[in-house]
Parts: sequence; C-alpha cells; structure tokens
Amino acid sequence: MSALFITATGTDCGKTFVTAGLLRHLRARSLPARALKPVVSGFDEASPGGSDPAELLAAMGEPMTPQTLAAVAPLRFKAPLAATMAARLEGRNLGLGEILNVCQTAMQDPRGPLMIEGAGGVMSPLAEGATCLDAIKALGVPSLLVGGTYLGAISHTLTALAAMRAAGCAPIAIAVNESEGSIVSLAATMAELAAFAPGVVAVAIGRGERDFGALARGCGLAGSPAKSV
Ligand SMILES: Nc1ncnc2c1ncn2[C@@H]1O[C@H](COP(=O)(O)OP(=O)(O)O)[C@@H](O)[C@H]1O
Ligand SMILES: [Mg+2]
Repeated sequence: MSALFITATGTDCGKTFVTAGLLRHLRARSLPARALKPVVSGFDEASPGGSDPAELLAAMGEPMTPQTLAAVAPLRFKAPLAATMAARLEGRNLGLGEILNVCQTAMQDPRGPLMIEGAGGVMSPLAEGATCLDAIKALGVPSLLVGGTYLGAISHTLTALAAMRAAGCAPIAIAVNESEGSIVSLAATMAELAAFAPGVVAVAIGRGERDFGALARGCGLAGSPAKSV
C-alpha cells in the first residue's frame, strides 16, 4: 500500500494521535512510513510546538526545519478554522487540484507508506467546494476512519460510514479511539458498532495506547518484527 488517508468523524477525535501511533509502530518495524498533513489550520509559524506537523515529525524521528515542515505540511494557515475559511483569511482560495497535487507528489516518493492526515471530519471543507471525502475519492487511496466513545459517537461513526460508503469510499478500518472522560466504555462502543456495522474492521484504541499492531494489521499495513532495543 502506498498511502492511507486518516480521516475522522470530527475534529479532535484523534487523527494525529492515531497517525503518530501508526508511524511509530511501522518505523520500529523497518517500514519507513511517512506522514503528510496537506492542509493545516490553526498553525502558528512562531510557535509550532504541539501542532500536528510537530507531532507527526516527532513520530517520524525528524527535527523540525523549514524543509521538513514544508514536506510534512506544505499548506499552513494561522486561523483555527476550517481549512477553506482559514485560507481565505490569508487571501487564498484553496483548490482541490492543488491539494491532490501535493498528495500525489508525496505518494510518488518510493519510501514506505504515506499516512495522509485529513483536516477536521470526513466532510469538513478541505478546498473550495470539496470535502475531505472528495479528496479521498479523487486520490483513490484506502482510508481509516477515527471515531470516539463520547456520548453520541456511535451516531457520528455510523453517519460517517454511511457517507463514505455512499461515495464508494468505505474505510478499510475504523479506529475506535477512547474519548477523554468518556462515560461510555470502549468495550460497549465496540459491541454496539459490531451490531450496527457488521463485518467492518474496528480496532479499539485506549487512552494513552501504545500498541498499534492490531490497527496496522487492520489497515493492511505490515512491517517486519519489532527491532529489539
Ligand atoms: N487515545 C488517546 N489517548 C490519549 N490522548 C489522546 C488519545 N487520542 C487523542 N488524544 C489527545 O487528544 C487531543 C486531540 O487529538 P488529535 O489526535 O490531535 O485529534 P485530531 O487530529 O483528530 O484533531 C490531542 O491532545 C491528543 O494527544
Ligand atoms: Mg490532527
């Protein structure tokens, strides 16, 4: 697999957490996985610490330099808004073609699989007139849907799944990422999803999860056995 698009039911669901976990897992197993966050909003050039690009570079074991930042997150905007809105505030109209181009160029790099982190949720605007789902469809790459366990997460996950299926882009797997302070347990959410979405590959990710092996396998990503340290 050359690329995996990581999307979610909404913002703050854990796309970066899961992407970083997959990157670390694969890289520890001699698969030089790379990350791309084609569009990032809410990015402060003067204080990039803790941002998505910073987290992804750290998971790749790379320092943040102007070059590595440009490679992992070429389109960066300051306002913490949807990508299109943040870009417009800087006088830019983001076109889907430009974003696809960024992704396709990165996908041509022969090094290990490319983890493409979307922005917001699966139907968040990514470019003028185009959502993340439109980008997934146009790229024709497999996708991973990240959902939570907060009250209401099952509806959001099933809604996202239905939209993705309707677009002919069913996710290869769902990462059920335990939400902070959730009153619904991970096990209960898993059981409910299994009942309402039978046959879907769903992988539980706990708070502070460190083992991304099951998720990597669920996404069809395999590496060599872990390097002993
Ligand atoms: N399973 C988890 N365990 C601990 N912290 C998590 C987990 N999932 C997400 N987080 C934290 O929650 C916040 C939002 O997650 P993030 O991955 O940035 O979401 P997204 O990329 O979808 O916007 C981050 O601070 C992240 O580290
Ligand atoms: Mg993120």
